[in-house]
Amino acid sequence: MSALQKMMGWVDDRFPLTATYKAHLSEYYAPKNFNFWYFFGSLALLLLVLQIVTGIFLTMNYKPDAELAFASVEYIMRDVEWGWLIRYMHSTGASMFFVVVYLHMFRGLMYGSYRKPRELIWIFGVLIYLVLMAEAFAGYLLPWGQMSYWGAQVIVNLFAAVPFIGEDLSILIRGDYVISDATLNRFFAFHVIALPLVLLALVVAHLVALHEVGSNNPDGIEIKKHKDPVTHIPLDGIPFHPYYTVKDIVGVIVFLMVFSAILFFAPEMGGYFLEAANFVPADSLKTPEHIAPLWYFTPFYAILRAVPPLFGSQFPGVVAMGMSIVLMFFLPWLDRSKVKSIRYRGPIYKTMLALFIVSFIGLGYLGLLPATPVATIFAQVFSVVYFLFFLLMPWYTSIEKTKPEPERVTG
Ligand code: HEM
Repeated sequence: MSALQKMMGWVDDRFPLTATYKAHLSEYYAPKNFNFWYFFGSLALLLLVLQIVTGIFLTMNYKPDAELAFASVEYIMRDVEWGWLIRYMHSTGASMFFVVVYLHMFRGLMYGSYRKPRELIWIFGVLIYLVLMAEAFAGYLLPWGQMSYWGAQVIVNLFAAVPFIGEDLSILIRGDYVISDATLNRFFAFHVIALPLVLLALVVAHLVALHEVGSNNPDGIEIKKHKDPVTHIPLDGIPFHPYYTVKDIVGVIVFLMVFSAILFFAPEMGGYFLEAANFVPADSLKTPEHIAPLWYFTPFYAILRAVPPLFGSQFPGVVAMGMSIVLMFFLPWLDRSKVKSIRYRGPIYKTMLALFIVSFIGLGYLGLLPATPVATIFAQVFSVVYFLFFLLMPWYTSIEKTKPEPERVTG
């Protein structure tokens, strides 16, 4: 026995290192037919690590103080060695995180990955998505620019529209009657420690649930149904390591090429990743002409604005915006189709999914623009389509004739 084997034996007697490696990597069998859409889970993990590491370095020079915050970010950008790179990696990384997560969620919709037995993977996913939005919102206040300040003002005021408790709730969030130094301090605490901890815990739960039931695949059929009678290994499964570790590295390399191109040539992405107004220090006496959240929030912002106020209260819009996310939790039970993957569904589901995506992107675009009467009508139509995708799902998925699923995975 070599010295290395002896050492591993010593560790294994005290900690399940080899057993964990086998159970989750070298003897974890994943379907052999993963395609392009299966890159985004590992890329989301990469971005999570990237945001945490760059965030740690930013925190070394950032000052969570309303008097100093804006200047400290400028100091990072101009004077700290490589500070500009770290800051742009973090701000571009935030937007790329949402790009990756949206594609990851879309894959789930296409292949019915939220369906039994993967309901909890999906529910943990929606929770991750909610916490990620809170994380991005809290982070955006920190540079203390005009858009940080006024964006937070608009969103926190929405909580004031909740009947009875709204006023107190918004004061609790702000820690003050207006967005102030107290708000900046609590948002810093949430952004830097509280929410990342929750996010990490949820990602662990997401992956534990995934490894309990195993991945879905583009055919939407269960590989565990056909196992080798002797070894009990799924016939259509391949070990995660080395096959998918190598595949994921290809994804990482291509992603890093795209990421660097954006980072070095268009880190602000023409105002989509960092808004121009945020390069002006926050001024509580001067409202910017047009307040718009960053692109990843705009579909929900458009839904909020599409609903007219009731007796001067924005509450109905706030409820619609909340419902647009809450509905996602129910997806596993709304879908009654006999098949999971879009490959074997009929034209109705394909049309509904296409309309849903067009509406989501349409709402995202409209949320960036001022709410003119024409834009509002479009936003209302798109919002109705968005909700109908979910609300009519039990009906259109149960009446639709589906194609026969294959017994074993296809190419
Ligand atoms: C920090 C964010 C996230 C991370 C790090 C993450 C990570 C992962 C990883 C590594 C996988 C396995 C690889 C893959 O199937 O691509 C996975 C699968 C999955 N994720 Fe996520 N995820 C995140 C967010 C989400 C969100 C927001 C949702 C949905 C709302 C979601 C839903 C799913 C589903 C349904 C699967 C199983 C897919 C299948 O087997 O076909 N995830 N996730």
